[in-house]
Amino acid sequence: MDITILGIESSCDDTSAAVLRNNVLLSNAIASQAVHIKYGGVIPELASRAHQQNIIPVVDTALKEAGVSIEDIDAIAFTRGPGLLGSLLVGVSFTKGLAISNNIPMVEVNHLHGHILSHFIDTPEKELPHPDFPFLCLLVSGGHTQIVRVDSPLEMEIIGTTIDDAAGEAFDKCAKVMGLPYPGGPVIDKLAKEGNREAFHFSKPHISDLDYSFSGLKTSFLYTLRDMVKDDPDFVEKNKADLCASLQHTIVDILLNKLVKASKQTGIRDIAIAGGVSANSGLRNGIVEEGKKRGWRTFLPEFKFTTDNAAMIAMAGYYHYKNGEFSSLDVSPEARLGDL
Ligand code: KG4
Ligand code: ZN
Repeated sequence: MDITILGIESSCDDTSAAVLRNNVLLSNAIASQAVHIKYGGVIPELASRAHQQNIIPVVDTALKEAGVSIEDIDAIAFTRGPGLLGSLLVGVSFTKGLAISNNIPMVEVNHLHGHILSHFIDTPEKELPHPDFPFLCLLVSGGHTQIVRVDSPLEMEIIGTTIDDAAGEAFDKCAKVMGLPYPGGPVIDKLAKEGNREAFHFSKPHISDLDYSFSGLKTSFLYTLRDMVKDDPDFVEKNKADLCASLQHTIVDILLNKLVKASKQTGIRDIAIAGGVSANSGLRNGIVEEGKKRGWRTFLPEFKFTTDNAAMIAMAGYYHYKNGEFSSLDVSPEARLGDL
């Protein structure tokens, strides 16, 4: 029997709703919030208000584009956390209202779980390649950097994580120092294409096991800029492309280094990446190159599934639904939802 899931995602600054039939995506509507650009980062209170304005039209659009009505929905999957509490609250409260008024069960989803399971979504046009279990997923977003061992859709374990900043945060903070707009990751990615990645050398962390650290790199980047700008106030402007290329190269190198170690330790060679930073061209090329050298099967998400979207929340919700895992009406959002 077909299962139709409505997914709702509101953990940060994108309001999204999607409809999934089994694992085939019927629609994925996203309203991005431009309001944060002028502040150089997400302002939580403004994000919550924008979610409130966007959520009804976004859900409406997702249902319409999918050609379904609310009566066709078997369950509503929503992001319970981690994320900004006020933003999550909008999605959770809206889901409750829609669920009560239409007598539809609710399924809570861990946002990170969603990013990883985006690898199992197919589109009506094509079946996308899916990793086999167990696989390793490098989950790189604005708030998280983790290596996750995935044993089944509902069984996964974090085997490495950042002890300070996330990779996306390193991109965004270094971009801010260079005066680039928020979010900095995609801007750096674009500028890096024109630059020489060997032009500058920034410090790399020495952290044990499979864990990451990016705060040292951020400091090293900041000091390099500060020293150079003293001698030449136009230094950043003149060297933007080289700075971006060198920074991106360093971040990708750090990410790949531990991923290679994780693959060796676990013997797992199906390797996926997920999260906003998995859109990065340096990381995508780096994973494919490394994979060729090491006999990995590599899985890169479609661009539309890299940054936050409700399709991935619906996908994770589908697996919980099949497993009979539902949420009760007293469920509350969790800003720091830990274990996957
Ligand atoms: O997964 P996501 O949309 O939101 C979180 O769950 O955090 O990730 C957002 C992060 C931001 O830090 C953004 O700069 C980064 O993903 N990002 C990129 C690229 N596109 C988005 N970083 C590097 N290169 C990109 N092309
Ligand atoms: Zn995310």
